[in-house]
Amino acid sequence: MLTSYQTFIETQVPKEKLIISRTNLSGIITYANEVFAEISGYSIEELVGQPHNIVRHPDMPKSVFENLWATIKKEEIWKGYVKNLRSDGGYYWVYAEVSGVYRDGKLIEYKSLRSPVDTSVKILFQEKYDDLRAQEEGVMRIVSNISVDTVAKIKNLAKQEGKNEDQIITEILEDSLF
Ligand SMILES: Cc1cc2nc3c(=O)[nH]c(=O)nc-3n(C[C@H](O)[C@H](O)[C@H](O)COP(=O)(O)O)c2cc1C
Repeated sequence: MLTSYQTFIETQVPKEKLIISRTNLSGIITYANEVFAEISGYSIEELVGQPHNIVRHPDMPKSVFENLWATIKKEEIWKGYVKNLRSDGGYYWVYAEVSGVYRDGKLIEYKSLRSPVDTSVKILFQEKYDDLRAQEEGVMRIVSNISVDTVAKIKNLAKQEGKNEDQIITEILEDSLF
């Protein structure tokens, strides 16, 4: 259960800086620049060797990445807006262009160059992605205020039942309302 404000903290991508990464053909990071490390909250060493979904944010619909992979596998350029997860649970938005890296005319890796996004565009895409996730996964985000006592009870129940707190809240809501 997210009782921390950390998840709502946005890191701004500076206008003059480019976040750059490369992956092998299966999406494992082979190169990360200093800016990528700084913005994502990881060190370069922590990023290299990891799957690129290390920065996948739960607000991103699956279909966006399916489309990304289908596009780059056809050796076309994918362009789009992505909300990414920082190592501390915060987030950052980027406009990304993902394409192939070629040696002697042969596709050997993929690369992504990312730049900042205007606030109005972030709002538009947050709404668009929320709608997509509702359609595709039947999931919606809710932000609510619950009393400290109730939170303690939920945490206890989760511990007792070996479940996570979100599952407990969902079960309680579904049992009592429907
Ligand atoms: C060069 C390259 C850069 C990528 N950059 C990101 C990124 O910044 N954030 C992200 O969530 N996925 C990125 N992806 C897509 C991930 O590989 C992955 O498909 C995505 O995070 C969804 O995770 P999943 O495939 O495990 O569902 C990138 C892929 C490539 C090839």
